[in-house]
Amino acid sequence: MRIEGGRLLVAGRDAEALAREHGTPLYVYDLRRIGAQAVALRDALARAGLTPRVRLAMKALRDEPALRLLRSLGPPGDPAAVGLDACSPGEVLHALECGFLPEEISYTGTNVSERDLDVIAPLPLHINVDLLTQIDRVGRRCPGRALGLRINPRAGVMRGHAQSLYAGARPTKFGIYEEDLEEAVARAAGHGLSIDTAHFHLANGMLDDELPAFDEALAVAQRMVRRLIAAGCPLKEVNVGGGLGTPLHDGERRLDLNAYAGILARHFGDLGVAVGVEPGELLTNEAGVLLAEVVTVERRMGTTFVGLDCGWNVMNDHRLYGRDLEYVVCGRADAPPTQRVTFAGHINEGDDLFGEDVPFPQVAEGDVVAMVSAGGYSQSMWTDHCGRPRAGALFFADRASSVGTPGR
Ligand SMILES: Cc1ncc(COP(=O)(O)O)c(C=O)c1O
Repeated sequence: MRIEGGRLLVAGRDAEALAREHGTPLYVYDLRRIGAQAVALRDALARAGLTPRVRLAMKALRDEPALRLLRSLGPPGDPAAVGLDACSPGEVLHALECGFLPEEISYTGTNVSERDLDVIAPLPLHINVDLLTQIDRVGRRCPGRALGLRINPRAGVMRGHAQSLYAGARPTKFGIYEEDLEEAVARAAGHGLSIDTAHFHLANGMLDDELPAFDEALAVAQRMVRRLIAAGCPLKEVNVGGGLGTPLHDGERRLDLNAYAGILARHFGDLGVAVGVEPGELLTNEAGVLLAEVVTVERRMGTTFVGLDCGWNVMNDHRLYGRDLEYVVCGRADAPPTQRVTFAGHINEGDDLFGEDVPFPQVAEGDVVAMVSAGGYSQSMWTDHCGRPRAGALFFADRASSVGTPGR
């Protein structure tokens, strides 16, 4: 994404022209960014002396063009290829359709049911379980299987939040606590299950400034991993989850992947295991923008509302996680802010707002606005609330070609 002659370009194309041609709301993706990020992460881990396993968290973006691009980064079955982290039977089946082998899929679901197991248990994919009772459920169904244990060190980092929602001081639904490790190992042994992976997911949106806190959380995770090894678990991999962020606002420092990899190497480099990373945001955020048309501009009780032809049904990550978005007028992308506005969506709920009190340039009905860095957890989380359709999507993999899915 760049600005040229005052206009926003995405994947080298004029964003406003794409919006006029294909209609809004429209996601536009530059898939090359996903590939570049995946390779950069893999290389940083390898440079730190680790044996990397990089997998995309499908929950961030599961569209076929994106998965096919990742597939093209390495032959099926090659450990250096980029695999997938799946969390539902639907994601697994979709991954297989897109050319991934079951062995390239790491399944970390939560509250896995017998119906989920009907689909995933017959496949030779890797399952990580996150509760004691889930060890029993998998064990009853597939005794003797190798599986991963999601652990919860009660420490983590979550940008913009006081504590990690995945592994903080507050009880969460994810992961075996340290005091339950022995019980977990015993339950697994009771079913003949061998624990070959220690998995944890501790972070969200982590940038450079969060690395020291991540390092501290890893010290607890490391202690738990070593306890598993001491208990005789034949670990082949430590899967450190995702949680790597991308900068969006002025003053945010990009995560230094070498520093990140160095910290992982310090904690796990001597264990003789592969180190798995399953990022969503890092690979996808900067690959996508959401384009919407301005349908109203109206000042009401001192607030200027800019109404868009999209709503929280096509983008709701900002509401779930309080993520501030960045907005650009595509045709005047370098215009300075002259006012403060509130962006409102077209869903009939008073809360269907994007940014509030956002510094913004002059804007008029018919302008096209881009929400940038919207590649992850946006289109993948759409709903048809109010009968509003899915946004269209365009995927550019190189200079010449694109694949599109029209909004309905
Ligand atoms: C188990 C697990 N792995 C990976 C991810 C990807 O996280 P992120 O997009 O922050 O990298 C998540 C996100 O919730 C997760 O729960």
